[in-house]
Amino acid sequence: MKVAVLGAAGGIGQALSLLLKTQLPAGSELALFDIAPVTPGVAKDLSHIPTQVAIEGYGQDGLNDALKGADIVMIPAGVPRKPGMDRADLFNFNAGIVKNLVEAIAEQCPKACIGIITNPVNTTVAIAAEVLKKAGVYDPKKLFGVTTLDVIRAEAFIAEAKGLNPEEVNINVIGGHSGVTILPLLSQLGLDFSDEEIAALTDRIQNAGTEVVEAKAGGGSATLSMGQAAARFCLSLVKAMQGEPVIECAYVEGPGEHTKFFAQPVKLGAEGIETVLPYGDVSPFEQAALEGMMDTLQGDIQKGIEFAG
Ligand SMILES: NC(=O)c1ccc[n+]([C@@H]2O[C@H](COP(=O)([O-])OP(=O)(O)OC[C@H]3O[C@@H](n4cnc5c(N)ncnc54)[C@H](O)[C@@H]3O)[C@@H](O)[C@H]2O)c1
Repeated sequence: MKVAVLGAAGGIGQALSLLLKTQLPAGSELALFDIAPVTPGVAKDLSHIPTQVAIEGYGQDGLNDALKGADIVMIPAGVPRKPGMDRADLFNFNAGIVKNLVEAIAEQCPKACIGIITNPVNTTVAIAAEVLKKAGVYDPKKLFGVTTLDVIRAEAFIAEAKGLNPEEVNINVIGGHSGVTILPLLSQLGLDFSDEEIAALTDRIQNAGTEVVEAKAGGGSATLSMGQAAARFCLSLVKAMQGEPVIECAYVEGPGEHTKFFAQPVKLGAEGIETVLPYGDVSPFEQAALEGMMDTLQGDIQKGIEFAG
């Protein structure tokens, strides 16, 4: 299994690469690409960790070599938020970066599974799909917007609120990956929540990224928790591709019940998505939130389609 990380020298990229170096199955290969000159050094640094994961770093001119033969490509390349910005403000910086990187993937490893982390995810995934379509290699089963951070945040906050072991909390988070489009299905947990608790927890999960951006005071957005979230998603994908199906929520092109791309639980298998799963029953509060997010999510997707068109 070869995993390429594009944007590997950044805050997320380095955390993700460390977790993959220590947790990918023996015999895997890890390729780190970034335009930052430090990238070969990041790979050298990680290569001193004694695991059976081969690692190579690629600078500016090495994108094609990094991608050659990749089974999975994780993309955290791009600019993060600063206080006062929302994810849509990143569009002007990151849309072109994702477009260029996915064009190279279409050429070098068109059958790879792609995990897009670069924000605004609601839009960058639509851009990636259009680029792959134009190149004639789009397979909706292999393109994912990584929304795992919303899931792990929900698990952490629910456990904190209810005094539970966070490792035993499992929740579906559906919709998209920004503000009101993030919808944790708290009603499915079988826990006793008041209406106020549901409203407050939902709001905290939706705005958790901003909590980090403000606490880092201009120093970027979530990198360590995002590194963990991306590693969880990538390792689930590896496991599934090697024959053990795993369920994760991700922002994918599914049956289109709501919008073309929608985050929901998917069963991962040998070829990427094996089945897009139904997300189950929702409460009246969640139904209203679902209806309330549609215009935003639809607009975010349309923006990506138009950019790549
Ligand atoms: N999906 C999520 O839940 C989630 C969570 C947090 C952050 N993010 C997003 O992830 C992205 C990265 O965040 P970060 O904190 O790691 O930022 P960062 O600035 O620390 O790192 C970004 C890296 O991307 C590299 N880069 C820029 N253009 C590139 C290109 N064309 N090719 C290869 N590499 C390139 C930079 O050199 C840098 O090393 C941002 O867009 C951020 O908004 C997503």
